[in-house]
Amino acid sequence: MFQSMILYMVPIFCVLSITTVLACDILDDFDNTRDPGHIIIGGLIPVHEKVVIAKKPESQKCTGYDVRGLVKTLALIHSIEVVNNSTLLPGIKLGYEIYDTCTDPTKALKATLRFLSNSNSTDNCVKVQCNYTDYRPTVQAVVGAATSEVSIAIARLLNIQLIPQISYSASAKILSDKARFPAFFRTIPSDEYQTKGMVKLVQMFQWNWVGTIASDEEYSRSGINNFITQAEQAGICIAFQEVIPFYSSVQVTNSRIKEIANIIINQTRVNVIVIFGKSSHVTQLFKELSNQNISKVWIASDSWSTNSNITRLENIQNLGNIVGFTFKSGNVTKFQNYVKNLPRNPKSSNTFLTEYYNLRKLCAHVQTYNLDSCLSNHTHRAMANSLLTVNNSMEIQYQEDDFLVNYIDPGVTSNIQWSVTALAHALKMLLKCNEGICQKSFNFAPWELLEYLKKVNMTDEGTKIHFDPSGDLMSGYDIVMWNFMEGKVKINRKVAEYDIEENKITVRDSKFNCLKAVVSKCSNQCQPGQIKLSSESQHTCCYDCINCTFNTYSKTKDALQCDFCLPDEWAPSGSAHCYKKRIIFLDWNNGFSIVLLTLAAFGIVLIIIIISIFFKNVSTPAVKSNGGTISFIMLISLLFSFLSVGFFIGKPNDITCNIRQCLFGISFTLSVSCALAKSLKILLAFDFNPANQHNLRNFYHSGLITSFCTGLQVIICTMWLVFNGPKMHKDDTRLRKEILIECNEGSYVAFAVMLGYIAFLALICFSFAFKGRKLPENYNEAKFITFSMLIYFISWITFVPVYVTTHGLYLPAVEVVAILSSTYGILCCQFFPKCYIILFKKECNTTNSFLKNLYDYSLKSTNLITNGQHSLNYSGHNKSCKSIKSNNSQKILSITSAAQNNGFTCVSRKRSSSW
Ligand SMILES: *[C@@H]1O[C@H](CO)[C@@H](O)[C@H](O)[C@H]1NC(C)=O
Ligand SMILES: *[C@@H]1O[C@H](CO)[C@@H](O)[C@H](O)[C@H]1NC(C)=O
Ligand SMILES: *[C@@H]1O[C@H](CO)[C@@H](O)[C@H](O)[C@H]1NC(C)=O
Ligand SMILES: *[C@@H]1O[C@H](CO)[C@@H](O)[C@H](O)[C@H]1NC(C)=O
Ligand SMILES: *[C@@H]1O[C@H](CO)[C@@H](O)[C@H](O)[C@H]1NC(C)=O
Ligand SMILES: *[C@@H]1O[C@H](CO)[C@@H](O)[C@H](O)[C@H]1NC(C)=O
Ligand SMILES: *[C@@H]1O[C@H](CO)[C@@H](O)[C@H](O)[C@H]1NC(C)=O
Repeated sequence: MFQSMILYMVPIFCVLSITTVLACDILDDFDNTRDPGHIIIGGLIPVHEKVVIAKKPESQKCTGYDVRGLVKTLALIHSIEVVNNSTLLPGIKLGYEIYDTCTDPTKALKATLRFLSNSNSTDNCVKVQCNYTDYRPTVQAVVGAATSEVSIAIARLLNIQLIPQISYSASAKILSDKARFPAFFRTIPSDEYQTKGMVKLVQMFQWNWVGTIASDEEYSRSGINNFITQAEQAGICIAFQEVIPFYSSVQVTNSRIKEIANIIINQTRVNVIVIFGKSSHVTQLFKELSNQNISKVWIASDSWSTNSNITRLENIQNLGNIVGFTFKSGNVTKFQNYVKNLPRNPKSSNTFLTEYYNLRKLCAHVQTYNLDSCLSNHTHRAMANSLLTVNNSMEIQYQEDDFLVNYIDPGVTSNIQWSVTALAHALKMLLKCNEGICQKSFNFAPWELLEYLKKVNMTDEGTKIHFDPSGDLMSGYDIVMWNFMEGKVKINRKVAEYDIEENKITVRDSKFNCLKAVVSKCSNQCQPGQIKLSSESQHTCCYDCINCTFNTYSKTKDALQCDFCLPDEWAPSGSAHCYKKRIIFLDWNNGFSIVLLTLAAFGIVLIIIIISIFFKNVSTPAVKSNGGTISFIMLISLLFSFLSVGFFIGKPNDITCNIRQCLFGISFTLSVSCALAKSLKILLAFDFNPANQHNLRNFYHSGLITSFCTGLQVIICTMWLVFNGPKMHKDDTRLRKEILIECNEGSYVAFAVMLGYIAFLALICFSFAFKGRKLPENYNEAKFITFSMLIYFISWITFVPVYVTTHGLYLPAVEVVAILSSTYGILCCQFFPKCYIILFKKECNTTNSFLKNLYDYSLKSTNLITNGQHSLNYSGHNKSCKSIKSNNSQKILSITSAAQNNGFTCVSRKRSSSW
């Protein structure tokens, strides 16, 4: 207001040339204290708490004497004295003019007008000019004001002449804006850093559901807004934001505070509350809550974090923990000594001190702990009146004590000291003071000092004094904590420190860590294995937790999404980690494989037994009729078929995968082609027309047939293995918790061709054998070949659909079953009957018996030749050997040729025509 008014007036006055504005009568006995000097420093300190509302624009009276204000003035005076006593500015004495602002901007503006007045004028006139370049105001720099509200008001006025202003406690963020406040400096960090520190504190203990309360005035509002913005950026949710009216009537304020107290009680999940506010508001709120026994964490802004009024509240320990931010402080020992040794002269030049002494006398009867409220209870007028009586009566003495020392706030005191130190160093640079002499005259315009203030860079007992480009001192914060002992509060300073540049809180006292126990969250943390599912509320901190689904996991608490397990891992739902999948394959220990292996082993044993039986009886017709060498080859190939079963069981690898199919394929092809050779031989013996027979017989060679048929299969297998052979394959997708190790057959076409080729041979063999099924019983091997081929067909025709539809562990077992059944089929049908004859029907196992059989057959089937003699002769044999089933191609061939010579030709011919 003031500023804009003056700015508005400037052009008008400029036209009228230089005019003077009178800023008179602001000097009041109780309003200021001064000391002359070459360079005057203005001071603005609230020694009283408020102004008495006046009906006329008279000089404003203040009430509520504040001992702290007095201590601040003493600190300023002491700092100036220290500079004067030092060799910093040789030959120059710093003077001061300190005014009481009574925490009121208007009152402060009046004092500022005095600062702006021409130093030469005797009647406190402010010259209004267009150009203040050469103007010499009363003061060269201002220290103050205490609050942001007052600082902002006077800064706008001081801007007119660009008089440097250094505040010791105004923390509003807006003051960092150098476009608006070019001459403003402060020896504290901007509030922005305090709120950053608060956010850091809230984060440090993982609170995310906090409430905020602010008084409705400049400092608190900007502070709380900063906090809310930064907190939300940091993922902290604000449960409620309450504002206490500042300029409203007492009733409105009180009812609002009651409402807020109710909200705090109702919001049980909010255990951390940040208050940026006037101490009087906090006092009232705490009074409202102190009977409720709610235990919360209160985060105090510097405005009330060390307020003694609040510490003295009753039942304050019921409220929980109070932690607060205060500005960093330096060493104030010297100042303490100074205060202790103040001259006890009531008629001091310091009017504030005089007032203090007088008040002390008035309150001589009051106990120490009530003293400051007694001191602040007296109005100006009442005091003036009482002073008269006091002065008139005998001097009332009071107990000399260190009462004032208790009111030294190390933070503010240090800030005031640093303000003066910074000014002194800027002056030293400006005036070029060196080695006991200053080269420049101290008659300079205040704006000249600005540049040098910005350049100040020195260390004062460990504290770096240097302003950042915004004019703020980056000194950091101390975090205080209130301890409750026997109902009294002791403020524990420096439980932790907040470093602005590193944005880090360093714990100095382990008591601070007890805050870890406090939980302030909207929702309980989601456990590992769960993820957040936001609920209806808009707050990101309020959510439900749901389990991760099957095969997904979340490692951290409060995870946002579940991750998928690796292909060789799995996880049950709601899992915090994945498990390795179990590796499975058709194991040797598996019951089914034991059965299969036992069957295969039994087959091998049988084959060995049969081989040894055959070997012993190698010269008997039963063995000979069975093909002789061919039957040994067949037995060996069946042995390998059984052996191949072993490669289907156990953990597969590339080698076993390659071996197993081809081993079976080739060995089984060999046995089938042997069977084929045999059935072909039978056919040759009884069927083909005699003209061809001779040629065919020459052409026929069992070894050639078997090697040719088997050779083809070997080629097929080789091609398969070379171009796309079976491979070991880990199947980790199909099963949920296991990895199946199996053989991928590579080319299934080759696999089919291999099996199909066997089937083709079997089909030929079957058809040959089927033609020969009615041949003489002893030679009727064909029947058994037909059977074994049927068994082969049944088992492999069953195998195909089962194999195609089966997946997993038992797939190889399916094939093993087909292998075993077809192999056993051949073994049983083609070798057991022979063994039976060899072992139990030795009388049948003779050449005669075989011949007789042949005759019988010829007689029975042709009905053309009736030879009763022969019939009779062999009838005995015929009966006992009826069940003998054997074939001996060699014999048949020789017998057939013998029969031919004996007029038996018709038999074969007839037979062939009857089929
Ligand atoms: C400064 O020096 C004066 C006179 O020597 C002395 O009285 C005063 O106490 C000193 N002040 C400080 C703060 O040292
Ligand atoms: C003060 O006034 C006197 C005479 O009017 C003049 O000589 C002197 O230079 C002035 N000083 C300042 C600082 O303006
Ligand atoms: C302001 O006054 C100074 C000194 O009197 C002069 O050098 C400067 O040019 C003036 N500025 C303007 C804009 O008139
Ligand atoms: C507190 O909560 C209760 C029920 O949850 C509700 O009835 C009451 O109005 C709330 N009070 C305030 C002040 O919000
Ligand atoms: C202390 O409490 C008194 C009484 O309510 C009040 O007038 C005064 O302003 C308070 N002082 C501070 C510094 O809060
Ligand atoms: C403060 O300074 C005084 C001397 O002025 C010294 O004795 C004291 O140890 C210092 N205190 C700290 C905490 O540095
Ligand atoms: C303040 O003054 C009033 C009267 O002016 C008195 O009743 C009250 O007791 C005083 N309070 C204190 C704390 O001295």
